[in-house]
Amino acid sequence: MPRSGKEVDLEGRINGCFMRSMNGKPLPRESEEMQAMVAYMKWLSQSTPKNQKVTISNAGEVDTSLVADTARGEQIYYAQCATCHGDNGEGMKDSRGDIVFPPLWGDESFNIGAGMARTYKAAAFVKYNMPMGIQTKGLWGHGNVLTDQDAVDVSEFFAHKPRPDFPGKVNDWPTGNKPKDARY
Ligand code: HEC
Repeated sequence: MPRSGKEVDLEGRINGCFMRSMNGKPLPRESEEMQAMVAYMKWLSQSTPKNQKVTISNAGEVDTSLVADTARGEQIYYAQCATCHGDNGEGMKDSRGDIVFPPLWGDESFNIGAGMARTYKAAAFVKYNMPMGIQTKGLWGHGNVLTDQDAVDVSEFFAHKPRPDFPGKVNDWPTGNKPKDARY
């Protein structure tokens, strides 16, 4: 993994998501919850040979040479995203306080160490998954309606909004090769 400069096992990768994407704490490696998630992933991969690349239907790339236009991204956000993710990026909770639509910025959002805080990483997710429910077919009616430029613009807009810091950032990319959209 280029970001950590070493090979990371599944438990380490899951804890990376907890600490960055969920802005939370790592789980003990031997905990029941961690063991359950690893068991689930092993079950998912049981008929896939080791080292085989699998096709993911709602994942892909965007053109990373595109230059982002934040003002255009803001317009796209308020036209196509804010109904679910909120006028202030706060997302939406149900009456029990559980998250229905995740926040995209602010105190409850993913932190600056998450891949989603990087414009082009976020754009690749957004292009193939958002706006959710726009399609009548496919996985969850996911995305694939924005152009690469749309996805880059809207991602530049929300990715650069205020969000929690990630203290572990000092250890990232120890061997150099920091991507151009890294936030620190
Ligand atoms: C109909 C509601 C809806 C709309 C409209 C919508 N989203 Fe989402 N969005 C969701 C839901 C639900 C999730 C959580 C998906 C999941 O966990 O699989 C999500 C997840 C995300 C995430 C990941 C957040 C995280 O914490 O990892 C990003 C980024 C995102 N959306 C951006 C956008 C952008 C940009 C737009 C507009 C182009 C948009 N969304 C429009 C419902 C919506």
